[in-house]
Amino acid sequence: MRSMRMIGLLLFASVASVLLVTSRPASGEQPIAFNHKAHVSKGLDCAICHRYVREQAFATLPTIETCLMCHSAKMSDNPEEAKIREFAKRGEPLRWQRLYALSPDAAAYFSHRRHVTLGNIPCATCHGPMAERTTPPPRALVRFDMDFCISCHQEKKVSTACVACHR
Ligand code: HEC
Ligand code: HEC
Ligand code: HEC
Ligand code: HEC
Ligand code: HEC
Repeated sequence: MRSMRMIGLLLFASVASVLLVTSRPASGEQPIAFNHKAHVSKGLDCAICHRYVREQAFATLPTIETCLMCHSAKMSDNPEEAKIREFAKRGEPLRWQRLYALSPDAAAYFSHRRHVTLGNIPCATCHGPMAERTTPPPRALVRFDMDFCISCHQEKKVSTACVACHR
């Protein structure tokens, strides 16, 4: 009986620690209210901030050093812009909340390089009108599931074999 209670307690403790580890700010809460349109409309390329989008599997999100290339001195009266220098002063990294992530259980392989550079597929096909956003979207603008991947592969006559994606 006693050992059963112990196991119960241990289970409870491990569930509680998982909950602690995975607790995040409410969805859509980003460290800075970033404005895509203000930057993209000035002609900035996506890869200035999503550094590896043409070369590697992951696009990556920008570090504060990227923002400081242009924002090390005051540029506007927008308090969100001033936050960049406040984060830098505190030595605090920008922890952007991810909007797009494939289910880790699926163990599916996705490469940006393959789709953007070799496949020539525009970002908006998979990410919607991100370039038009004046505030960070609270959730992904496009829902991904396996059908989303497979229907385009069928249309473009790309492999739909399970092992193409589940490696
Ligand atoms: C064919 C669909 C597709 C295209 C085209 C595409 N993406 Fe993605 N993107 C995805 C998927 C799928 C994920 C989630 C990947 C994962 O969880 O492994 C993602 C994730 C991301 C992320 C966050 C995670 C990361 O990779 O660092 C960023 C940023 C991103 N994409 C930017 C872009 C930009 C910029 C472009 C255009 C230059 C682009 N994407 C084109 C499908 C696409
Ligand atoms: C290559 C230069 C460049 C980089 C890199 C850059 N910005 Fe900017 N940013 C600008 C310019 C130019 C403006 C002014 C746009 C305008 O006046 O409409 C601006 C404006 C802003 C504003 C005010 C937007 C508004 O709604 O008025 C914020 C906030 C901001 N940037 C945040 C960031 C953050 C966060 C990063 C890093 C992820 C970053 N910027 C990276 C050039 C840059
Ligand atoms: C000056 C920097 C900058 C530029 C240029 C930029 N982005 Fe972003 N991007 C960000 C930041 C910061 C975030 C996180 C905050 C947000 O969602 O607005 C982000 C988030 C994203 C995400 C969500 C990724 C995820 O899973 O969390 C996508 C998709 C994306 N950007 C696409 C694009 C595309 C497409 C372009 C070019 C048309 C572009 N971005 C240009 C800074 C930039
Ligand atoms: C809008 C169309 C489109 C969407 C959506 C799309 N793909 Fe693709 N995919 C392509 C094209 C086109 C290629 C071939 C690119 C090339 O190499 O020319 C490709 C190639 C691939 C390859 C390499 C296949 C091989 O034979 O080695 C993998 C893996 C892959 N995609 C995974 C994914 C996953 C996972 C998703 C969903 C998250 C996805 N794709 C969504 C169009 C798409
Ligand atoms: C073009 C890429 C692609 C191909 C081909 C593909 N899948 Fe998937 N599959 C995915 C992606 C991406 C996910 C995760 C979607 C998400 O994040 O919700 C997934 C999810 C799954 C899941 C759910 C796993 C989980 O626990 O979330 C199963 C099961 C699965 N696939 C089986 C298959 C089988 C069987 C085949 C062959 C008949 C196949 N898939 C072919 C991309 C692919």
